[in-house]
Amino acid sequence: MLELSMLIGEGKSRKVYQHPIDPQKVIKVEYLKAKHFKPNNEVEYLYYAYLKKKNKDLSCVAKCYGWVETKEGRGLVFEKICNEDGTLAKTLREAIAHNELTFEEADGLICELIEYLKKNTIMFVDVSLDNIVLRKNASHNTLVIIDGLGSRRMRLKFKMYLLFPSFAQYKIKKQTQKLYRKFKQLTCKAKK
Ligand SMILES: Nc1ncnc2c1ncn2[C@@H]1O[C@H](COP(=O)(O)OP(=O)(O)OP(=O)(O)O)[C@@H](O)[C@H]1O
Ligand SMILES: [Mg+2]
Repeated sequence: MLELSMLIGEGKSRKVYQHPIDPQKVIKVEYLKAKHFKPNNEVEYLYYAYLKKKNKDLSCVAKCYGWVETKEGRGLVFEKICNEDGTLAKTLREAIAHNELTFEEADGLICELIEYLKKNTIMFVDVSLDNIVLRKNASHNTLVIIDGLGSRRMRLKFKMYLLFPSFAQYKIKKQTQKLYRKFKQLTCKAKK
């Protein structure tokens, strides 16, 4: 059983630890006592397996490696997203707040990500700017989704999205419009 000691991030539903054996990976453990418990790990695991089976381009999504038992409970292992220099990638919200990219560059990257989601029919439902990180690379920066794929809950509607891609495309259109609005609101605030 793995012992987790280095916390590298935290959201409303999960704690994110450095993998104790593999420095390229993180382990996400759910707060089982969270007030509004959401089965994020379960849904993301199933959705990632579905995308892989469908041979989708997963270049803008953190890779998912499956389950491990830890002293904090069952955890899901993901690729740790780092910059080219090895430092941990910042969330898009942090990168904008710290002026790590120009508004024009951020706009271009978010539009690229939206095109990628539409082209590959990938559902990004929890469209928070904290669920996207900026991977800095000397030749080309990219955005990577680290949370919020698939569905918020395991409902019949989610199964319908998987069965009917045109239905999923409609949802993707709505969610990406919401993402772009959130991005614009943040950049307008940051410009003031
Ligand atoms: N694969 C990753 N690589 C690098 N950093 C990560 C990764 N996954 C998560 N993080 C960091 O940990 C933070 C929390 O992770 P995550 O968004 O998965 O938690 P959550 O509880 O599911 O979030 P939410 O509050 O949106 O439900 C992120 O904002 C990010 O800073
Ligand atoms: Mg999150």
